[in-house]
Amino acid sequence: MASFYRGLLATLLFVNLLLPMALLLPCAHGAAAAAKGKISAVFVFGDSIVDPGNNNNRITEARADFPPYGQDFPGGKATGRFSNGKVPGDMLASRLGVKELLPPYIGEDLQLDDLLTGVVFASGGSGYDPLTSIPAVATSSTGQLELFIDYKERLKALVGEEEATRVISEGIYFTVMGANDLANNYFLLPLRPQQYDLSSYVKFLVSSAVNFTMKLNEMGAKRIGFIGIPPIGCCPSQRKHGSRECEPLRNQAAELFNSEISKEMRRLNVEQTIPSSKFAYLDIYYNLLDLIQRPGFYGFKEAGEGCCGSTVLNAAIFIKYHHACPNAHDYIFWDSFHPTEKAYNIVVDKLFQQNMQDLM
Ligand SMILES: *[C@@H]1O[C@H](CO)[C@@H](O)[C@H](O)[C@H]1NC(C)=O
Repeated sequence: MASFYRGLLATLLFVNLLLPMALLLPCAHGAAAAAKGKISAVFVFGDSIVDPGNNNNRITEARADFPPYGQDFPGGKATGRFSNGKVPGDMLASRLGVKELLPPYIGEDLQLDDLLTGVVFASGGSGYDPLTSIPAVATSSTGQLELFIDYKERLKALVGEEEATRVISEGIYFTVMGANDLANNYFLLPLRPQQYDLSSYVKFLVSSAVNFTMKLNEMGAKRIGFIGIPPIGCCPSQRKHGSRECEPLRNQAAELFNSEISKEMRRLNVEQTIPSSKFAYLDIYYNLLDLIQRPGFYGFKEAGEGCCGSTVLNAAIFIKYHHACPNAHDYIFWDSFHPTEKAYNIVVDKLFQQNMQDLM
């Protein structure tokens, strides 16, 4: 087992070293690629890592539209984002030069301009396994694709078929799910472990995630950034009570999923079932793990505890109106599941230094 994971790690490191070199080789394609890669809209699917408030009107525990959430957001507003400030969808849209905040598709009074530049369909508690969303009362991954169909119809009615098709095909799409399938389903509830051992469950998740990605591609998404599963064993809520160590089995499951899905994304990229499509696997696992292993290097003082507490009950509605720590910028984790805005910013920066260019 240990040597398998060492082998896996070596492979991943090797791939990470090769990618930047590959980017340096074709010197000529700079300007042309920049024009060709023009991005006018960003769309995000996923779970609470990227949900900016789609769950606000739901009867669910997976909500964050009350203090202390949002205490460092512009205006100190608790929008439903599961952090002290902005979340990765906002950061991706901002760094791509599209807009500063990526709004939720549900519940907000969206203007035409919001629809033209992209929205988020993600729902806190969701996953690739359809069973994961049920106890969380979240919008499943399939439900999010249905919302995307609804969005496309709305856009078509507003701007006409041709313009709608342009917005959809020039957009960039990200998906971030899988953490709940492991932490809040397989490792928490009885059904899936009765049906699958861990490695066959991970295979099932990979198959669901590939099917999700292919459906999105068939619906018109040409550039898809697949963000993997974070090192969930390192979330304060998943560590053994009071332990400084990350929980190894959860992390190994996340690593296994990520290594399999990154191969699948390379395969989809080669196959080109729909011409001129681009798929890229984007790493959140090692990028976040690096912060957790070297907090001081990034200006953090606390890598294991959450600013709002560290048990499974120190997140979402369970901390409604509770006080957060006064020094969130010292913490990697905001609550017992979700990173702080500062940690997210560093991770998203790393994605742009790595293979984001593959999607341009
Ligand atoms: C993914 O799609 C294939 C082909 O339609 C199907 O056989 C498979 O069961 C699907 N996987 C999951 C997990 O639903």
